[in-house]
Amino acid sequence: MLIVGNWKAYVNSGAAAKKLFATAKRVASSKHELVLAPPAPYLALIALGARTKVRFASQDVSALAGGAHTGELTAEVVRGAGATYAIIGHSERRAEGETDEMVLRKVQNALAEKLTPIVCIGEWVRDADAAYLGFLRGQLDAVFSPLSAKDRLAVVIAYEPIWAIGKSAVDAITPTDLNEMALYIRKLLGSYIPGKGSAKTRILYGGSVDASNIRELAGVPGIDGFLIGRASAEAATFTALMKALS
Ligand code: PGA
Repeated sequence: MLIVGNWKAYVNSGAAAKKLFATAKRVASSKHELVLAPPAPYLALIALGARTKVRFASQDVSALAGGAHTGELTAEVVRGAGATYAIIGHSERRAEGETDEMVLRKVQNALAEKLTPIVCIGEWVRDADAAYLGFLRGQLDAVFSPLSAKDRLAVVIAYEPIWAIGKSAVDAITPTDLNEMALYIRKLLGSYIPGKGSAKTRILYGGSVDASNIRELAGVPGIDGFLIGRASAEAATFTALMKALS
């Protein structure tokens, strides 16, 4: 499975980042691909020159590319800091005004720098009329429709229903509902990726995953990994989670 630890802004010192990286290396297992997404300064601190199987992601990349852009973390910059993945379109970025058009530009910039985009989609609420399914379709279409056939194959999807993020395991999605969503997302992908290609797209789940529910959720067919926030940002909870998965 692909396990992505999104440290958000929980990890807030170089010393804490180094310590958590040491823990991650210790608990990384050859059965899973482990990717860490530290805040940008600590990404460089731990990733540059690191000889490890652990991979690194940026938590975002700029919608702009190249030179005169003060304050922007361009795909080129994060690639140079040691990232090979980029989380894009996280709901916490979208809540700050990021639009589908910006998400697309970010994905294109990431792909141009050979970063694997982890594109987050997810509904705010579940309505009885299932309008949220159309909402998800729109989020996917905004990214996949303009991409080339080759680029479509490079994208990882993280399904993160916003109502389930940053809470506790009881608020996470149920395995039955997750199974349904994985089927739905893969069906949508089928209209952009012909033949058997869409079966290969990795679909992650994110939202209140921890040691108590990861094993059950990992058993859901069609789920290829997890994007984990809070439980990845502390040594004890992350160790417990990786143990529960192994
Ligand atoms: P959480 O965050 O695991 O703290 O719910 C997941 C995410 O926002 O990526």
